[in-house]
Amino acid sequence: MENIQNKVVIITGTSSGIGENTAKLLAKHGAKVVLGARREERLSSIKQAIEEAGGTAVYKITDVTSSKQVQELAQLALDEFGTIDVLINNAGIMPVSPLHAQKMDEWDQMIDINIKGVLYGISAVLPTMRENKKGQIINVASALAHVVVENAAVYAGTKFAVKAITEGLRQEECENNIRTTIISPGAVQSEITNGITHEETKDAVKGMVSKVWLQPESIAKAIAYSVNEPDEVSTNEIIVRPTIQKAF
Ligand SMILES: NC(=O)c1ccc[n+]([C@@H]2O[C@H](COP(=O)([O-])OP(=O)(O)OC[C@H]3O[C@@H](n4cnc5c(N)ncnc54)[C@H](OP(=O)(O)O)[C@@H]3O)[C@@H](O)[C@H]2O)c1
Repeated sequence: MENIQNKVVIITGTSSGIGENTAKLLAKHGAKVVLGARREERLSSIKQAIEEAGGTAVYKITDVTSSKQVQELAQLALDEFGTIDVLINNAGIMPVSPLHAQKMDEWDQMIDINIKGVLYGISAVLPTMRENKKGQIINVASALAHVVVENAAVYAGTKFAVKAITEGLRQEECENNIRTTIISPGAVQSEITNGITHEETKDAVKGMVSKVWLQPESIAKAIAYSVNEPDEVSTNEIIVRPTIQKAF
């Protein structure tokens, strides 16, 4: 994993789950990680854990629905480490429910965080990467960026959008030597199901995924693989499901 060494990596949604595990793994391999999420206590203790293990981390409270805050997170990377090598747009929520439940606030939040947050991240790092003529943007989508299942119409819609945006970015920026990667996890144990407010859907999701889910480290390893590949290799998409996950 020598190509991870010294890379400056911004990761959104680093206060738990896939983001936290990715930050710790990349820092273990020598990356300088820049952490962003809303819960400061979590960010602070993750930074401390990384430093105690010999790694380098800084953090900033960041709500990805604010383009200004995402810009400030990118600026933190530039101020502290002088450049940006990798952005991992990982922050996301999954309050799934049937459309007839009319949870419009949750639709708005999913669109703001899962789609607009990704766009704000891309916007914040592209000038630096274009100037450097290199970089990597990793967007965390989902197995539900490939298929739609009932009760996940809006969530899947946001992840289909992430996939489309990433492919557009690839075509626009490949000649600037900017690598793009879509990471599409299947079921992973994390706090994400806590945000489901539609009780029937919550029970169904928890009942299904708790039998099959992966630990977030498995997704972190796939991300680390793509970061470690040499500059001329753009790992454009990885889908990582639990082996026994049959549905979607
Ligand atoms: N777990 C799965 O089965 C699964 C499957 C496919 C895809 N994914 C995707 O994987 C990504 C990570 O999810 P996870 O499973 O690791 O869930 P998680 O443990 O709930 O982590 C989600 C992270 O996103 C952050 N976040 C949420 N809203 C935010 C906002 N407005 N601004 C900044 N950060 C925000 C949270 O931090 P704060 O609350 O502190 O801000 C948290 O750190 C998401 O994009 C999710 O859609 C997960």
